[in-house]
Amino acid sequence: MPATRLTVDPSHPDAASIEVAATALRSGGLVAFPTETVYGLGADATDERAVRRVFEAKGRPANDPLIVHVHPSWALSRVLDGPLPEPLRRLTESLWPGPLTIIGPRSASIAPSVTDGGPLVAVRAPAHPVALALLDATDRPVAAPSANRFSYVSPTSADHVAHDLGESCDVILDGGRTTWGIESTVVRLDGGALTILRHGATTAEQLVAAVGDLVAVEDPATDVDEDGGVSPGRAVRHYAPELRTVAATPAAIAAADLGAAADAARVVHLGYADRPAASHAAAHFVSLGSLADLPGIAWELYDTLRRLDAAGTADTLIIELTDEPGLGRAIDDRLRRAASGQLASTAAQLEAVLADASRSKGSGR
Ligand code: TXA
Ligand code: MG
Repeated sequence: MPATRLTVDPSHPDAASIEVAATALRSGGLVAFPTETVYGLGADATDERAVRRVFEAKGRPANDPLIVHVHPSWALSRVLDGPLPEPLRRLTESLWPGPLTIIGPRSASIAPSVTDGGPLVAVRAPAHPVALALLDATDRPVAAPSANRFSYVSPTSADHVAHDLGESCDVILDGGRTTWGIESTVVRLDGGALTILRHGATTAEQLVAAVGDLVAVEDPATDVDEDGGVSPGRAVRHYAPELRTVAATPAAIAAADLGAAADAARVVHLGYADRPAASHAAAHFVSLGSLADLPGIAWELYDTLRRLDAAGTADTLIIELTDEPGLGRAIDDRLRRAASGQLASTAAQLEAVLADASRSKGSGR
């Protein structure tokens, strides 16, 4: 049955719509809702059956754990066991509510399926008024992965959710486009270091400013995990469009002759307004915005990837890395994963990909 879609004001969601969604959650249903990062597909995190439905709806393997969402006013003992170590306590104090996910010992009240039985659970307090109202009305921790089909691009609008999961969730709260358009940053405290498991809307620089005097902030996440073993979201193909996609460094783009591929018109170069390449006349150029506005680029990214997929007018997508610090790290991480780890760092590599693309034109990937 198609989901019930309720349009809500993103700043002041009306109580009646929130109550419909909260009631669905409390009775084991699935509710898609906007957070400040991307839309989540929520289930009562204390309800084992409801949590299993989330994995089924997404086609997500059971060993890829979910993030539990809490209201910032709640005691964390509702979801985590034991006292929070000082660095994590400080992070929650300075960066919550917001796009930061911490990992700690799972409380017995959380359904084991959330973590595939594992002892550690990911938790975040979102900042979006709709998410806050929903958590408050439900009064249960809500397990919610991004509301997309597994390994596809995350949803930043209710239309994206309806496209992917319209038949498999009960309620979609439509609060318009999300604020950041890119997922939360995931961190774990490992002894004396804070490890970034996934770059996201909270920057490494913000983490250092918050806890740099207590712990080292480590960033192994730039190395793409072949097997996704450490944190499954790090799997090499993730957040990926259907289109054949290759990531390229700014240097490779600048030096390559993008027009050289026989079917250059079917090649889209996804880049930046302030870094146009000489050969744009031949290759179709789509701008994600200006590098001076990284939040704007993050906001456009997933919507643009979905639009290019839906349009079906391109065979091959070249996505240019920003090579910027701060939010640029999260954007580049997603671009590399969208390209399933295929990265051209020289003009020759990029031209080889294009030549290959024109040979296998139309066969998809
Ligand atoms: O912004 C976000 O985080 C969004 C919104 C809805 O809150 N949620 C989201 O969830 O992106 P999901 O399930 O698509 O991504 C969760 C990430 C994955 O990379 C997962 O592997 C990692 O968090 N993760 C979850 N629990 C973990 C755990 N116990 N240990 C290590 N990594 C974990
Ligand atoms: Mg996801």
